[in-house]
Amino acid sequence: MTELILSLDLCDRRQAASIAESCAPYIDAVKVGYPLVLSAGLGIVQDLAGLGLPLIADFKVADIPNTNRLICDAVFSAGFDAVIAHGFVGPDAVRTCVEVAHDRGGAVYVVAEMSHPGAVEFFHGGVAERIATLAVNCRADGIIAPATRPDRIGRLREIVGRRTIYSPGVGTQGGDIDTVAGLVDGVIVGRSIYEAEDPAAEAKLLSRIRR
Ligand code: XMP
Repeated sequence: MTELILSLDLCDRRQAASIAESCAPYIDAVKVGYPLVLSAGLGIVQDLAGLGLPLIADFKVADIPNTNRLICDAVFSAGFDAVIAHGFVGPDAVRTCVEVAHDRGGAVYVVAEMSHPGAVEFFHGGVAERIATLAVNCRADGIIAPATRPDRIGRLREIVGRRTIYSPGVGTQGGDIDTVAGLVDGVIVGRSIYEAEDPAAEAKLLSRIRR
């Protein structure tokens, strides 16, 4: 089954909680990032806890090992189940995230290649492949790969094998959900759902990938 993950990039706490609640029957996890946490505060995690869905902290953690440890400790203490970290910071920094996450029963997903057009400037030419290899070597639970470039997902799948691949970039960014769903373990969707006139109906429509 391919998971449908709601990216909750809203800045209003009540609106975010309400949309997440209405979409909950059709989704498998909720991804929360800086826009919502910086606007609504970490208390949003408690608002979402009642959904009974895994909560992924998209903080793209990218610091020295000690700071990564402090960030990941705070993430899991707040009640998140997983964290997204950058891999370009190197193996010691990524391993620290993995150690903290696994000690807390959580997961780490490493950004191997990003979905926006400008990402090719630095991620192509072998870098994404090296980061995916690093994610495997550091025992990360999976990687993030771009729905906007299905061919690249195929290449990164060769490296990570059966490890999880979550993929943002469908809908508003141009990726086709049906093409990508067959290649990855979960598709991350934000604006196509929460900006829809009826977010729950849109989530239900997209939840066809879960079959
Ligand atoms: P939209 O609205 O475009 O939202 O469906 C996508 C969400 O995913 C995040 N995003 C990424 N996160 N690597 C990541 O770790 C990526 O390549 C990437 N591309 C998009 C984006 O911040 C938003 O929350």
